[in-house]
Amino acid sequence: MNYRHSFHAGNFADILKHALLLWLVQARQAAGPLTVIDSHAGAGLYDLSGDGARSREAEAGVERLMASRDRPSLIEALAAEVAAINPEGGVELYPGSPLLVAHRLRTGDRYVGFEMNPPVRDLLEQALSAWPSAQANGGDGYDQAVVAARTARGPLILIDPPFERPDDYVRSAETAAAIVRADRTATVAVWTPLKDLETFDGFIRRIEAAKVGPVLVAEARLRPLTNPMKMNGCALVIVNPPEGAEVAARVVCDWVAAVLGDEGARAAVWQV
Ligand SMILES: C[S@@+](CC[C@H](N)C(=O)[O-])C[C@H]1O[C@@H](n2cnc3c(N)ncnc32)[C@H](O)[C@@H]1O
Repeated sequence: MNYRHSFHAGNFADILKHALLLWLVQARQAAGPLTVIDSHAGAGLYDLSGDGARSREAEAGVERLMASRDRPSLIEALAAEVAAINPEGGVELYPGSPLLVAHRLRTGDRYVGFEMNPPVRDLLEQALSAWPSAQANGGDGYDQAVVAARTARGPLILIDPPFERPDDYVRSAETAAAIVRADRTATVAVWTPLKDLETFDGFIRRIEAAKVGPVLVAEARLRPLTNPMKMNGCALVIVNPPEGAEVAARVVCDWVAAVLGDEGARAAVWQV
């Protein structure tokens, strides 16, 4: 396993995923106590002065976010989380999905994260130590998310793999379908990179073929998809989106394309 999210933390893809994740948590909390399951949790907290500074991805993502003005409220919600963990100003630290969710837990809510890489799992445990209702687990997040989802009613699941293995698309689609088939009130959000359209279409077709519920695709492309070796954009594919998801997704994707994209950037939000 070579993937290290610390190189990518705070990039444009994290901004899109995390702004929508915060909205999804809030939307699902309106229905009562919420369990959030994170199949690929990562470290929970990232120091951008290390790997992040070398990759410079945060510079084009969270640093631009914090320098921007007139942010829509869904984007402002993420900026406020970043500001809260950097009380001295600047952007030295960036929160991952586990910490963002942990901050939002109310009495009766739970966060259950899975991280396969043991040293990263230890960091995750450390990052979550202040939240007794947030759990850090090891092991394979695909299989375990399906099992964990059975212990909750109407959970919210984030599936956010590195996509370094050829079967990550198939396993993401199968995991999302298995969870929603078992509980039609679950919401599953799968993050995917946009490199070439054929791979992305194949993934969407697989989710569609499972026929488990409505699907909303929220994508932002930073540039035309001319170089399939590069991450030119990304998408959050939401199975069983809560009411209002389409509007929220438009706000977030439009902002990401307009503020973080190159010339020719565009956003698209559509139902499958
Ligand atoms: C993209 S990162 C997760 C980022 C995190 N969700 C966030 O938004 O802050 C993917 C993580 O999944 C871990 N991973 C890879 N394969 C896994 C698997 N089968 N089960 C659980 N974790 C896995 C990697 O070690 C990496 O830390």
